[in-house]
Amino acid sequence: MKKIIINLLVLLPVSIFSCWAQENKIQIQDQYRPSYHFTPAAHWMNDPNGLVYYDGEYHLFYQYYPDATVWGPMHWGHAVSKDLLHWEHLPIALYPDSLGFIFSGSAVIDKDNTSGLGTKKNPAMVAIFAYDNPLLEKSGSNKFQYQGMAYSLDKGRTWTKYAKNPVVPNPGIRDFRDPKVIWDAQINKWILTLAAGDQTQFYSSSNLINWKLESSFGKSIGAHGGVWECPDLFPMKVKGSNEKKWVLLVSINPGGPNGGSATQYFVGNFDGHQFKPDDTQTRWIDYGKDNYAGVTWSDIPSTDGRRIFLGWMSNWQYATIVPTVKWRSAMAIPRELSLIKENNTYTLTSNPVREIAKIRAHSVQIPVKQINTITDITKFVPFKLNKIELVLLCKAGKSAENKFGFKLGNDVNEELVAGYDQNKKQLFVDRTKSGRTDFSKDFPAIIKAPCELYNQTLELHILIDEASIEIFAQQGKTVMTNIFFPTKPYNKISLFSENGTIEIPNLKIWQLNKSM
Ligand code: FRU
Repeated sequence: MKKIIINLLVLLPVSIFSCWAQENKIQIQDQYRPSYHFTPAAHWMNDPNGLVYYDGEYHLFYQYYPDATVWGPMHWGHAVSKDLLHWEHLPIALYPDSLGFIFSGSAVIDKDNTSGLGTKKNPAMVAIFAYDNPLLEKSGSNKFQYQGMAYSLDKGRTWTKYAKNPVVPNPGIRDFRDPKVIWDAQINKWILTLAAGDQTQFYSSSNLINWKLESSFGKSIGAHGGVWECPDLFPMKVKGSNEKKWVLLVSINPGGPNGGSATQYFVGNFDGHQFKPDDTQTRWIDYGKDNYAGVTWSDIPSTDGRRIFLGWMSNWQYATIVPTVKWRSAMAIPRELSLIKENNTYTLTSNPVREIAKIRAHSVQIPVKQINTITDITKFVPFKLNKIELVLLCKAGKSAENKFGFKLGNDVNEELVAGYDQNKKQLFVDRTKSGRTDFSKDFPAIIKAPCELYNQTLELHILIDEASIEIFAQQGKTVMTNIFFPTKPYNKISLFSENGTIEIPNLKIWQLNKSM
């Protein structure tokens, strides 16, 4: 008996302590893990790759290094989802081989079996990706990146590399990567767009294997602060009309509008050989610091017809040193793109995919209708603020000096501020006091985007997760994605208006819950 009591006295505290330590470790390991944005279970992730829809599943492959939480020899990680929000992790799809690491690329379904790698009944899922060969690079060669191919006959579960890789050899260009393939129904050919230095190149093929260079695009057009990466060329109908245009997305690093990585786009025409932009203006798909290397899903059924875009929610300025422990980086929310035409110019809008409504749990309508100072509205929100969606309609104050918006805060006086500056006609996110910011000099920033009011009105759709804020302003015409790392979760929300009174006809907040 005595022995049992002694054992209990000694072992119970030990086991309680070890449970607590274990729990604490899990909490620290998973701090900042988003609840409805995609993250790898562990280790390093960057660009989305091989976005393709097949047989009821959205496939998400991604740049993955399974041995550390920093960038390293690249693999393709893999996950699938039926609704773009709930993801099932699958085994690594592509491993590095004697030709090199597996860099970014795309995937398509070869429905007509043009490659001969599958059958019409069971078409191949074909991945075209960049190889990066570090040994060749070390040897002084410029030709260390080239495009390879792999295919799967079982819905992306297992992959065979094409025996005669590479399919697009390097012509002597140092940065030669990130192939994105589409089927061009107009000319009945596959078109491959890739990044070549600070330009893009277009190739055509009838079988996904033999590629012919058609043209290059980008010399002296667009932003050139850094190398061009991860292009994506696709046709789009202009919203509300039958007019067809071509959109070319090009990521650039560095040289983004708020520093570091960002994605620009061009609108124009593509005749199967050449892309001609309508103008030379530089446009950004997202002005935030944290939406990079985004591309769109292939093979979305025509009954659905959406062009769905996914970006990596980080920035090469600090991606490898953000303060997460078990994994690094999340994807942004998948977005539906639309092309709108106003005053003869085309704008690409992005809005969260409609599936987000499926995970809306509780909601509240905030009764505050006017603000001329700072007003704490926390008491109206009976749920945690770390996974919410907001829809906010604001009529700006009359003075041009008026500045307004909202703040998230916590018990240790950290705050994230988002708002609109009438004087500068800018949307902004101030994360200078948002929490952990000192891991990089480029992190604590006031991030800005040009944005016009309509009838003095600003319409915001906002998604907040554990460590990110995505703002879709004016129905997706101005978008900003930014990450943050508070030392304690934000548990306060307030509205503010400086130099004027704003009217708030609508402010609704939902709690998002992925278990729905
Ligand atoms: C973009 C990028 C791509 C490249 C990949 C390597 O973030 O640099 O150009 O293929 O990441 O991981």
